[in-house]
Amino acid sequence: DYALEKVKECLKGASCLGADLGPKAIRCAGLVDAINGLGYIVRDCGDINPSLKTIDSVPGSVRLNNLKLVNDVNAKLYKMVKETLSFGNFPLVCGGDHSLAAGSVTAVQRHFGKIGIIWVDAHGDFNNEESSPSGNIHGTPLSAICGGGPENILPFKENNAEYVSPRNTVIIGARALDDEEKRLLKQAGVTVFGMDEIDRRGISSIVEDAIKIASADTEGIYLSFDLDAVDPFHAPGVGTPVKGGLTYREAHYLCEQLFFSDKLLGCEIVELNPILDLKNETGEFAVSLACSMLGKTIL
Ligand code: ARG
Ligand code: MN
Ligand code: MN
Ligand code: MN
Repeated sequence: DYALEKVKECLKGASCLGADLGPKAIRCAGLVDAINGLGYIVRDCGDINPSLKTIDSVPGSVRLNNLKLVNDVNAKLYKMVKETLSFGNFPLVCGGDHSLAAGSVTAVQRHFGKIGIIWVDAHGDFNNEESSPSGNIHGTPLSAICGGGPENILPFKENNAEYVSPRNTVIIGARALDDEEKRLLKQAGVTVFGMDEIDRRGISSIVEDAIKIASADTEGIYLSFDLDAVDPFHAPGVGTPVKGGLTYREAHYLCEQLFFSDKLLGCEIVELNPILDLKNETGEFAVSLACSMLGKTIL
C-alpha cells in the first residue's frame, strides 16, 4: 500500500535501499555468540526503527534526502549510546548507513568530552549541505561532527555543544573523495591516509600514526568503520563500493591494533547492505572485524 511504498522509498540516508537490513544480517552471521566467545556479556539493544510519521511528505523539500527520518533514528541512537556509556558499558553500533554516526559519535563526544575519531572509509563523508553532490546524508556526517555542517543532522543541539576537533580526526582508506570535499578536509585540518599512502608505508605505520593523532589530548578514540573501506572483493555487500581497498588482513590488523592501544571508547561497523551481498559474506566479515576490535588475537 501507499504507506509501505513510502517506507520502501525512504528508509535510507543513502541512495539505495537495504542498509536497514544490515543489523539483521550481522546477527545472522553470529555476532552475539562470537562476542560471548571472547568472554564478554552482550546486551543486544535491538534494532532502531524510524517511525512512519517522519517520512517527508514533500520529497525534495530539503536539500538533504530523508532528513526527518534520519534525525528520528539518530535521536533514538543517541539516547541508546548515551545510556550504554552511562552504565559503564562499551557500545558497538551496527549499521545501517553512515548517517548514523551523527547520532553515535555525538553521544560519545558529549559523554566523554574531548575525543578522537578514526574513520575507516573509502569516502570522506565530509560534505556539507552546499558541497554534497547527492544530497545523501551518509556523505556528510564527519563534517557535521567536526563542526562544518550540516548542523541540522546532529541530535539535541545544545547552544555551547562542542565538536570533535579535526586535529584529532583521521580518515584511513580513502580513495573516492569529491573535489570540494578534498578542499574542505584540507581546510579543516583532518588527517587523511589514502590508499596510496597505505601502499607506500604499510598499514602498521599508518595505524601507529592514526592512534597518536586521535589520542593526543583526548579521552580516547571512537572507531567508525565503513565496510566500503575494505576492497569489494572481500566486502561486496555495500551501497557504494570502490575498487582498490583494504585487504582482509589490513582491515583486521587495524582493528586489532586499536584494541591493543587501550584507547577505544566505542566502535561502529556501518554500510552493510545484505541485498547487495553474496551469501552474507560481508556480514561475516563484519563479525570477524568486531571480534578483532574486541580483542580477538591470532595466537
Ligand atoms: N561523496 C559522495 C556523497 O557525498 C558519496 C558518499 C558515500 N558515503 C558513504 N557513507 N557510503 O554523496
Ligand atoms: Mn551509505
Ligand atoms: Mn562512510
Ligand atoms: Mn564509504
